[in-house]
Amino acid sequence: MSDISSLGYVRIQVSDPDAWRTFAFDVMGFAEGSGPDPDALYLRMDERHARIVLVPGDVDRLLGVGWQARDQRALARVVDTVEAAGTPVERLPVTDADERRVEEAIRFTDPCGTPVEVFHGPVLDHSPVVTPHNSRFVTDGLGLGHAVLPVTDMDAAYRFYTEVLGFLPRGAFRLPTPPEYGPMRVRFMGVNPRHHSLALIPAGAVGDPGLIHIMVEVAGLDDVGRALDRVMAAGHPLSATLGRHTNDKMVSFYVRTPGGWDLEYGTDGLLVDERYYTAEEITADSYWGHDWSGASGA
Ligand SMILES: [Fe+2]
Repeated sequence: MSDISSLGYVRIQVSDPDAWRTFAFDVMGFAEGSGPDPDALYLRMDERHARIVLVPGDVDRLLGVGWQARDQRALARVVDTVEAAGTPVERLPVTDADERRVEEAIRFTDPCGTPVEVFHGPVLDHSPVVTPHNSRFVTDGLGLGHAVLPVTDMDAAYRFYTEVLGFLPRGAFRLPTPPEYGPMRVRFMGVNPRHHSLALIPAGAVGDPGLIHIMVEVAGLDDVGRALDRVMAAGHPLSATLGRHTNDKMVSFYVRTPGGWDLEYGTDGLLVDERYYTAEEITADSYWGHDWSGASGA
C-alpha cells in the first residue's frame, strides 16, 4: 500500500468569499469550522478542524491538495522517494503546519504543476460536528472524498502518482477521441477502500482554477436529495444531474461552485476490497443520469 493513506484536506483560493459562505454552509451543508485566518472559510465535515479551506484572493485557484501519511516515518519515506524522483521538496515551517492543524507537512509540485502537500498528525476538534442541515459526511478511514485534476502530461502524472507516491490504479475511462490522437484515458487512483481519492483528466493546458472537481460523500440518499433541493432553490447551476457512476457506484450530482469548479455531492460509494480488485476500464461513466448537457463551460 501507499505511504499516503487518504485525502486529508484541500486549500483553495476563492475570489468571491461572500458567495462561498452562503454556498458552503447554507446550501451544501458543511459545518463551519475554525482556523487562524479570520478571512478564510473553514469547511468542517468531521473531527478535523477543516477539510476544505477557502482563502480569499484575486483569482480562483487550487492552493494545495493535502494528502495524509500514516505517521512521521511514512512522511519521511515520501520525502525520500519524491526527492529521489528529482522533485524538490519543501518542508513547511511550524507556523504553516500549525495553520493547517497538522504536526508536520511538506510541499512539492506534481509533474503537471498541481501544488501537493503531504502531512501527518492531524490535530482533532472534538466538539460536535453541527451541520446546518444535519448532513452526515462519510470520511472515516476514507478521507475527505476525491479530487479530480487536469493534467497536460498524463503519462508523467500517472507514473508520478502510482510509482513515486504509491497510489493504486483503480481503473480508467477511455475518452472517445479521433484515432490520430491515440488512446486518451481518464485515470482513477485510490489509497484506501474508497474507489478513488484522485482522478486525472487529460487537458490541453492547465490554468486557473487548476481543479475540475472535488467529491464529498454523505451518508444517505436523503442527504443528497435534500442538498439537490437546496441547490435548485438557490439557483446554482447543475453541471451534471443526479446519476450513478459505473466505477465507484456513487449516486451523485455535480454543482458548479462560485469558484468555477464543480462539487460532486454523492452517497453509496463503493468500498474496494484490495485483495480481489484488478484495475478495469469502464466504457461509460454512469449507469444513468449525470447529464452534462446543461453544464456551463465545464
Ligand atoms: Fe467524481
